[in-house]
Amino acid sequence: MTSQPDQATRTAPKSEPLPGGVRHVGVIMDGNGRWAQARGLSRTEGHRHGLDTLRKLIRHTVSVGLEYLTIYSFSSENWSRPETEVSFLMSLLRRFVQRDLSEIHQANVRIRVIGDRDDLESGIRQLLVDAEDLTRNNTGMTLVVAFNYGSRNEITRAVRALAEQVADGRLSPSDIDAQSIDDNLDTAGIPDPDLIIRTSGEMRLSNFLMWQAAYSEFYFCQCHWPDFDEAAFDQALLDYAGRERRFGGLKAKAL
Ligand code: FPP
Repeated sequence: MTSQPDQATRTAPKSEPLPGGVRHVGVIMDGNGRWAQARGLSRTEGHRHGLDTLRKLIRHTVSVGLEYLTIYSFSSENWSRPETEVSFLMSLLRRFVQRDLSEIHQANVRIRVIGDRDDLESGIRQLLVDAEDLTRNNTGMTLVVAFNYGSRNEITRAVRALAEQVADGRLSPSDIDAQSIDDNLDTAGIPDPDLIIRTSGEMRLSNFLMWQAAYSEFYFCQCHWPDFDEAAFDQALLDYAGRERRFGGLKAKAL
């Protein structure tokens, strides 16, 4: 494991707000397969290029001073893909953690992993725990890795945890509110995403942060994930800055 780098050499979070005050961006990295298919390559080659795009995006979001970046890396539904593709995605996660963790740590990024760890192979589970432990005290961007993640599964686990607290007499049913649900989700303590970006032209949430995205803005772009770059990300932020978020209230000028 890498030793704790000198704080002075590490990226401090920027103090000036990003366009529109965005703090948390979620990304659905879609289109690796289609990108590869269009080039006569295997789907796994698409995922390999997708990982390169992800590396560039992490560097970019750190450099612009984003506070939280959540990446949808493997959904709880992705197990239904061919076994070869599933095992390639598992090996890609391993490669990502083994090769990139020290750079991520050096950049003062904290890693949080969301998703159901029970079905994961123990070696992968341990890698995720090690990545979280190593970066726990970092104070720059939080990189939230959604792995074996699905909102329905996350909400089900949260409801089960609350039901257990009620059954034990530690919680009264009337105390269950939005905050206690929030506190039992994998994302506890992480602000809701302001903006969710999905590449590849599909316009759906696909079981990603369904509870947390209640008031998120959405940005869909046509390009496949391996073609997504820093300029495309900045364009999404600019688009977001032009939105008016009302959270169920009225426009500022109507008040
Ligand atoms: C969706 O594209 C993408 C995924 C299911 C995997 C996303 C993974 C990466 C971007 C690489 C980084 C991965 C890790 C584990 C850190 P798709 O395959 O559904 O594309 P398609 O809709 O064109 O078939």
